[in-house]
Amino acid sequence: MNLAKFGDLVFDNVSFSWPNGVKVIDQCSFAIEKPGLWMLVGKNGSGKSTLFRLITGSILPKSGKIFCSLKPSLVYQNPDHQLLMPTCKSELMLCVPKTITYSNFKLFDLIQSALEKVDLVGMLDRPIHTLSGGQKQRLALAGAIVSNANLLLLDEPTALLDPQSQNSVLKVVKKLTSTTVDPITAVWVTHRPEELFFL
Ligand SMILES: Nc1ncnc2c1ncn2[C@@H]1O[C@H](COP(=O)(O)OP(=O)(O)O)[C@@H](O)[C@H]1O
Ligand SMILES: [Mg+2]
Repeated sequence: MNLAKFGDLVFDNVSFSWPNGVKVIDQCSFAIEKPGLWMLVGKNGSGKSTLFRLITGSILPKSGKIFCSLKPSLVYQNPDHQLLMPTCKSELMLCVPKTITYSNFKLFDLIQSALEKVDLVGMLDRPIHTLSGGQKQRLALAGAIVSNANLLLLDEPTALLDPQSQNSVLKVVKKLTSTTVDPITAVWVTHRPEELFFL
């Protein structure tokens, strides 16, 4: 079957179990046909992070098929597990694909424009340890943009944030997924059903 015709990201009857034999993903089928923000709610241990690992290809289904034409980038619950460098600029430089050669001018432009898209204008030289949790998550989103990803896999991205920071992250994700020019796709997983009311 040609899954590409069903969408950008397609699961066709996918099952997966970890070595303990428990089926974490059991005959899962869905298709994401176009850019936008998609939210998936499930209790702890229900297989949300496993689903993301299947999408990125870091684990393979035991049965069924996965089709993904998009370039994924993961954003984790705790930004301190993701951000590696001392400043916003050096962090984003690290995210630039090694396969593309940019002029210094173009590189600066790319990084400034990513910071703008996540509402972090003027933060280029800010040490990462001085950012709030919400700002760190938005920097992780900027890293995904710089890396040319067009599929954000958001793994409980606001679970550690206060309500105001939660909103700042949601606002940016909504903007990235609904712009008229080059909107991207985001899948947001959470164990908190109340986050559905964000939308
Ligand atoms: N690397 C792993 N090795 C073995 N079992 C795992 C691994 N990762 C997750 N699991 C198990 O798979 C189940 C689903 O986990 P997970 O996908 O992390 O759920 P969620 O993200 O919804 O909390 C849990 O029972 C968990 O213990
Ligand atoms: Mg998880």
